[in-house]
Amino acid sequence: MTTATEQDVIDLLLAQHNQIKTMFAEVAAARGERRRELFNDLVRLLAVHEAAEEQVVHPAARSKAGDEVVEARLHEEDEAKHALSDLYDLGVDHPEFDTRLAALEKAVVDHATHEEQEEFLRLRQETSPERLRRMAGAVRAAEAITC
Ligand SMILES: [Fe+2]
Ligand SMILES: [Fe+2]
Repeated sequence: MTTATEQDVIDLLLAQHNQIKTMFAEVAAARGERRRELFNDLVRLLAVHEAAEEQVVHPAARSKAGDEVVEARLHEEDEAKHALSDLYDLGVDHPEFDTRLAALEKAVVDHATHEEQEEFLRLRQETSPERLRRMAGAVRAAEAITC
């Protein structure tokens, strides 16, 4: 178990990816008011996570993984934001909600896998442990502001 001060940015983001995956499953399994609350929590978590990656992680990944990789991730995040916003407008009680939630989940999980394989690995290989820990602090600060 690592404490918040020791945790580096990759550990922090991997934990958030796992949390996002768990929350998709929880929203899919829930019904009624509980589903609405959980979906709102998922919307918030995705918004703060992606905003922090855009501020802290993708800029640092440009020099390690290349502009093309980062642009592809930004494009996926943009598409997910639109899909999430459409789903929010649709509402949890809509008959199409489940199908569209499942499609969004697949897109978000694929996006997270691309980040882990194409950005996080390179960042960890080519960035000092101290800098990776400082970046975790920057992600936490960005997320506190976005909340
Ligand atoms: Fe992302
Ligand atoms: Fe991510």
